[in-house]
Amino acid sequence: MARVFSGIQPSGVPTLGNYLGAIRNWVPMQNGDESLFCVVDQHAITVFQNPGELASATREMAASLIACGLDPDRCVLFVQSHVPAHVRLGWIFNCIARLGWLNRMTQFKDKAGKDREAASTGLYVYPNLMAADILAYHATSVPVGDDQRQHLELANDIAQKFNHDYGVEFFPRIEPMILGVAARVMSLRDGSKKMSKSDPSDQSRINLTDDADTIALKIRRAKTDAEPIPDHMAGLEARPEARNLVGILAAISGTLPENILREQGGKGFGAFKEVLVEALVDHLSPIAAEMKRLLNDPGAVDAALHKGAARAAAIADPIVAEAERLVGFLPPR
Ligand code: AMP
Ligand code: TRP
Repeated sequence: MARVFSGIQPSGVPTLGNYLGAIRNWVPMQNGDESLFCVVDQHAITVFQNPGELASATREMAASLIACGLDPDRCVLFVQSHVPAHVRLGWIFNCIARLGWLNRMTQFKDKAGKDREAASTGLYVYPNLMAADILAYHATSVPVGDDQRQHLELANDIAQKFNHDYGVEFFPRIEPMILGVAARVMSLRDGSKKMSKSDPSDQSRINLTDDADTIALKIRRAKTDAEPIPDHMAGLEARPEARNLVGILAAISGTLPENILREQGGKGFGAFKEVLVEALVDHLSPIAAEMKRLLNDPGAVDAALHKGAARAAAIADPIVAEAERLVGFLPPR
């Protein structure tokens, strides 16, 4: 059974997009020490984070992962900065990856924007640390959204060059598990933009912390067109907002968009949205309630994370120590 690793940044409250596109798919992959899920705070500070907020955002992200079904006793749930093996291997990978490889990364270009000279050097080497996150555990299965595909290809290039330069077969090949296109949730305000925790408009997303009234309001205000819901898939073409809402209802109900159209076809958006609100509230309110309950006892969440970090370090430390030995570092003891 392949070891699984995935990560999520604590750069805000997780959205319905994070839930349907990533977190929900991690829940059935739990398999003790063979499944690691990491809140990547070191990746988050590649763009400035308010220091007063980062620690609580990290704890909240962990609580929401637990509320969504990750069980700290059935997987390894931890915070990146608690396990120094990541940056130790990350430094070695900074020396393996080539400038030319990083120059091709589209996420850097997107995040750095027009003023590339002003981007942090951390944002530039971000994919090297991501490769280290995974390879410090010799993990080979990495469930992520499609936006991470290029970073995983880079991680494989790094692993191969390390093996080649040092004449070893040390790092394994990573198999990306790109989660279905149906799981790409779009903004409620603009069907051509990804739903994102960093979008300036809160109306553009459903947060996992939203209460029933907020969910109802956001869905009722969500952008639509004037046509009724079609009764077949071709009728969704060139209707990104309709396609998104139908996709959300299908994903949250555990069925296919085809089946939703069979049931809802012909309805106006007013009636359709009420069905969607009910499904979302039914599914998400227990998660929000559990998150609230967990955060009433922050000490318990922190204790679970500290246990997770110790288990993670027990796996990563010998692997990273061996990488350091292969590079030629004098053993520390
Ligand atoms: P991030 O929010 O960038 O830390 O992403 C965490 C995970 O959620 C990654 O696997 C992303 O691919 C996934 N993800 C983020 N936004 C969406 C979205 N709108 N739809 C589907 N998956 C998403
Ligand atoms: N870069 C990922 C994102 O933005 C988060 C991440 C960091 C990650 N390290 C990882 C994902 C390792 C998978 C494996 O979504």
